Amino acid sequence: MSKLSGKVAVVTGASKGIGADIAKGLAREGASVVVNYAASKEGAEKVVSEITQAGGNAFAVQGDVAKEADVNRLFEETRKAFGKLDVLVNNAGVYQFSPIEEFSPELYSRLFNTNVLGTLLATREAVKLFGDNGGSIINIGSAVTELHPPTSAVYTGTKGAIDSITAVLSKELGPRKIRVNALNPGMIETEGVHSAGFIGSDFQKSIEVEAPLGRIGQPNDVTPVAVFLASDDSGWVTGETIVASGGHR
Ligand SMILES: NC(=O)c1ccc[n+]([C@@H]2O[C@H](COP(=O)([O-])OP(=O)(O)OC[C@H]3O[C@@H](n4cnc5c(N)ncnc54)[C@H](OP(=O)(O)O)[C@@H]3O)[C@@H](O)[C@H]2O)c1
Repeated sequence: MSKLSGKVAVVTGASKGIGADIAKGLAREGASVVVNYAASKEGAEKVVSEITQAGGNAFAVQGDVAKEADVNRLFEETRKAFGKLDVLVNNAGVYQFSPIEEFSPELYSRLFNTNVLGTLLATREAVKLFGDNGGSIINIGSAVTELHPPTSAVYTGTKGAIDSITAVLSKELGPRKIRVNALNPGMIETEGVHSAGFIGSDFQKSIEVEAPLGRIGQPNDVTPVAVFLASDDSGWVTGETIVASGGHR
């Protein structure tokens, strides 16, 4: 039997990059998947059609995780479709590195509202749908909380908050059998990383020199760890921060 058959998962920010690959990976193991996106309808529909063509079950729901009404609607649509939830992957996230001299409240709001407020809003709604058997919440953090790269104060701040929120909620939700873990990737080649100009940069080159495994990652380096955290294989694991970075720290 597949590891996630009969389970229902919501993956935020699943129209591309790491989220899209995780959505497909959870579906391959038998989960029904709600593919959330903010703007990329086409990307989300492609993920859904790849899942359904492979015999899986998925549908897309637009919703900006930084907007409370959108998040409420995302989980209401999940409830209407499946009546329950077993796995939440808080993946939707944005990143931008800039020197402190260029810091602005707008940058702070953009990154914190998506990466932190979005995680908290989605988690609040998700826990209402978890049943008596609990479930698994996987917060996509980042290896930056170990690396502390210069010019990343705001982004690393958001992911430091994710590490702390993960630890707190693992204690708070453990009595309800809800496990909460952070999955913190190193640099992964995604659409977002291309748009941010990291590919081909000195930052990428320095990672390739410093990482024991000598390369940046691909989304499918992260997905098997997410599947592990979603499944009963990790049934005794909560409050952990798993770094998937080719050993770069
Ligand atoms: N790639 C890396 O090197 C790396 C490393 C460590 C951690 N991470 C983390 O991994 C996550 C995914 O990164 P990625 O590189 O895959 O990013 P990406 O390629 O830019 O994709 C981001 C995804 O998030 C969605 N999204 C963005 N803002 C959203 C919002 N407000 N509401 C709902 N969805 C939203 C996007 O949807 P639309 O396209 O529809 O806007 C898209 O599906 C992020 O949390 C990031 O911080 C990435």
